[in-house]
Amino acid sequence: MEQTKPLRIALTKGRLENNTISLFEKMGFDCSAVREKGRKLILPVDGGKMEVVLAKANDVITYVEHGVCDVGVVGKDTIMEMNGRFFELVDLGFGKCRFALATKKGEPFYGGYGVKTIATKYPNVARTFFESKGMDVEIVKIEGSVELAPLLELSDGIVDIVETGTTLKENGLEVIEDIAPISARMIVNMVSMKLRQKEIEELVARVTANLE
Ligand code: PRP
Repeated sequence: MEQTKPLRIALTKGRLENNTISLFEKMGFDCSAVREKGRKLILPVDGGKMEVVLAKANDVITYVEHGVCDVGVVGKDTIMEMNGRFFELVDLGFGKCRFALATKKGEPFYGGYGVKTIATKYPNVARTFFESKGMDVEIVKIEGSVELAPLLELSDGIVDIVETGTTLKENGLEVIEDIAPISARMIVNMVSMKLRQKEIEELVARVTANLE
């Protein structure tokens, strides 16, 4: 009989990857291959019963949506921005931060007549937020260090991730409104959820039982 393929889990490279591997070790999975990965991107876990794929956040969603990975670990920020078709099963509780609207300290944002300009790495999140307020804004997509945009007077405000608040503070910016809390989530491909239901439910139960 053909051996079952390992359950394939896409992890967002970096901090979420490290937190997930620590969680898997707490659950009793052997993650030595991931710990000694070098530059390898596909690695066996738990004696080959599972396979971990290391990818960028957006790509975790792409691989899970297309079903080439059964499960993914990705931040709620990326989920909100990409709006994919998959199940979001577990809030893993790590990678906590938030989406917020920030401006230069002391500068009034609401009010006035002109259309405000917002710089962000997350145009869909920003658009949805301002649409919910019925507010027309111009959105400019920035790739990183979004805090620069209001300092360079490209924008009136930013929609960005705030964790400790240090980046805002050190650049003379402040939060004027929280938009949404963020943390790492476990997502599952819709077909895998049917075809590998037992394995996935078992994994989810063990993950849930071992969360902080
Ligand atoms: C994120 C975010 C803020 C910063 C917030 O950027 O975009 O710039 O972290 O963290 P803090 O509130 O703890 O200061 P990241 O480090 O991912 O780099 P990037 O801006 O180049 O994307």
